[in-house]
Amino acid sequence: MRRPMPWRDEITQYRVVVSEIMLQQTQVSRVIEKFPLFINRFPNFISLADASLTDVMEAWQGLGYNRRAKYLHGLARSVVNDWNGALPTDPEILVTFPGIGSATAGSITAFAFNKPVVFIETNIRRVFIHHFFVDREKIADSEIRPLVERTLDHENPRDWYYALMDYGTWLAGRIENPNRKSHHYSRQSVFEGSDRQIRSSLLKRLLATKSSPLEEIIKNSEEDTQRIRRIIAGMVKEGLLSINNGIITIAE
Ligand code: ADE
Repeated sequence: MRRPMPWRDEITQYRVVVSEIMLQQTQVSRVIEKFPLFINRFPNFISLADASLTDVMEAWQGLGYNRRAKYLHGLARSVVNDWNGALPTDPEILVTFPGIGSATAGSITAFAFNKPVVFIETNIRRVFIHHFFVDREKIADSEIRPLVERTLDHENPRDWYYALMDYGTWLAGRIENPNRKSHHYSRQSVFEGSDRQIRSSLLKRLLATKSSPLEEIIKNSEEDTQRIRRIIAGMVKEGLLSINNGIITIAE
């Protein structure tokens, strides 16, 4: 039986986009918990486009990798302003949106439009490596791609990919991770003490206080000054934060 997930049980372009961006780096169980809250707050592209980045960041809390909230917000604004409110159906166009890589462009196209596109993500990769590359190392996605193409169900790609991902998840619990043999393998870095953790606590603080003097944040931080400055500069560059007259806020 296919695993029940709210974005599979009621399918709209918007719900598929939100869920696929959440699922890029967050486990299904966590997304199942957070997705309905996000959808309640921002039920469609228009409401998300109209929201402030601060409100979107707030709804994103608990999902991690916060720049995805910024990308999703930007995507909603672009869909509303440049695409008449309808998501483009071509993955070649979807990859031009910031935050959408080829895997997400493919998964959105397959799930939102039931189009038979070829894409590879971690669960899919695991299935193909397990079955077709038993004695190999450093397997490139370019080697897996033709196999996905040949096996893809052109009549019902959406259900085929659901099944493939569920099978990949099932396999993950039963065999040593074959993705280690992938050329594209990388583990999620440890959160404790990471830049990610510092970024996340900075955002949490700004969501609570709305604005803080830069020098105060630096003074109150236990981290090395250089490190905090570098992290904040990175977040400003990404458009997550703004600094005006020495005061930091979440960007608009
Ligand atoms: N179902 C729909 N999209 C999915 C994804 N990205 N991962 C796992 N299951 C999914």
